[in-house]
Amino acid sequence: MEKEKTIMDYDTVSLDDEDSAVVIIDQTLLPGRTELIRLKTAEEIWNAIYLLKVRGAPAIGVTAAFGIYLLAKACREENYDRFLAEFRNNKEYLDSSRPTAVNLSWALNRMERVVTENADCPVPQIVSLLKREAEEIRDEDIRVCRKIGEYGLTLVKKGDGILTHCNAGQLATVRYGTATAPIYLGQERGYGFHVYADETRPLLQGARLTAFELLSSGVDVTLICDNMASTVMKNGWVNAVFVGCDRVAANGDTANKIGTSGVAILAAHYGIPFYVCAPTSTIDLSTPTGDKIRIEERKPEEVSEMWYRERMAPEGIKIFNPAFDVTDHSLITGIVTEYGVLRAPFEEAFRKLPGKRD
Ligand code: MRU
Repeated sequence: MEKEKTIMDYDTVSLDDEDSAVVIIDQTLLPGRTELIRLKTAEEIWNAIYLLKVRGAPAIGVTAAFGIYLLAKACREENYDRFLAEFRNNKEYLDSSRPTAVNLSWALNRMERVVTENADCPVPQIVSLLKREAEEIRDEDIRVCRKIGEYGLTLVKKGDGILTHCNAGQLATVRYGTATAPIYLGQERGYGFHVYADETRPLLQGARLTAFELLSSGVDVTLICDNMASTVMKNGWVNAVFVGCDRVAANGDTANKIGTSGVAILAAHYGIPFYVCAPTSTIDLSTPTGDKIRIEERKPEEVSEMWYRERMAPEGIKIFNPAFDVTDHSLITGIVTEYGVLRAPFEEAFRKLPGKRD
């Protein structure tokens, strides 16, 4: 009998070049419905990122890379300067869809370099090079996440309890996830982890996405409300915390989904190691400290109405809805990258990374 398809058998993001479409899973419909949608125009790509149909720092980087390639392919301009001007317009537009995750501008800048470094080539050749670069960004993400998984696995032992926040899973990347990569590799190797997934108010990425993908993979996962993390830690059920991140500042301060800094403070209180899993593409040395990271603020309805049958807050109430917070570097035990586990002082550790020296 054919094995039943699970969410893990779908690509989070892929390119259908023949149909000139970026294909994504519409994550706003999960876990109830798995539906693929095809993004063709700049507006469709922008909206999919803004509305979190595709989300998670690496996944939005890959979507933007495929997207800008398709927009460059659709540009009928043979003149290099006019091609570059249109490319830059599209780049700026896509880059404005979400501000906090650096992978979005990182991927778009990488694509732009292909255009500027090949200014002598005919435009159709530049377009082919753009396709190759976007595919390399996707393939690199798979390799990097697997490496993060290997290094992360050295930090835990068989039977450990692991707590994670939001979704830094396969649905946030191309494969494996970042924070979930050690869990998936451990699962393949019989580590028997017990995972606690914070539901992650207000958009429930932990409940709708992390719990869903881990359960589909056969991982022993327990869903908790965000305000239960202290209890499971106090009970001694958590040996390590693994979270993802959207931008790491030069001093090691880390922006991730709102609520992450609270988890880090709890972990420090209970003496539990707190690990941030980060592809080095997420380390942004041009941002000196976490207070310089721009934090996205989202609509109040996400707090007062979304997911509820009826509004659950009085009309007219003031609502503050930041999508991310910054965890102070002093609370981070280690940053797990594709090159190994970095320890404080992070500034120094970052400077030793390939590509970060200058
Ligand atoms: O608003 P989201 O769902 O895009 O937020 C996602 C996160 O905060 C993730 O932890 C982060 O992007 C890392 S994904 C590997």
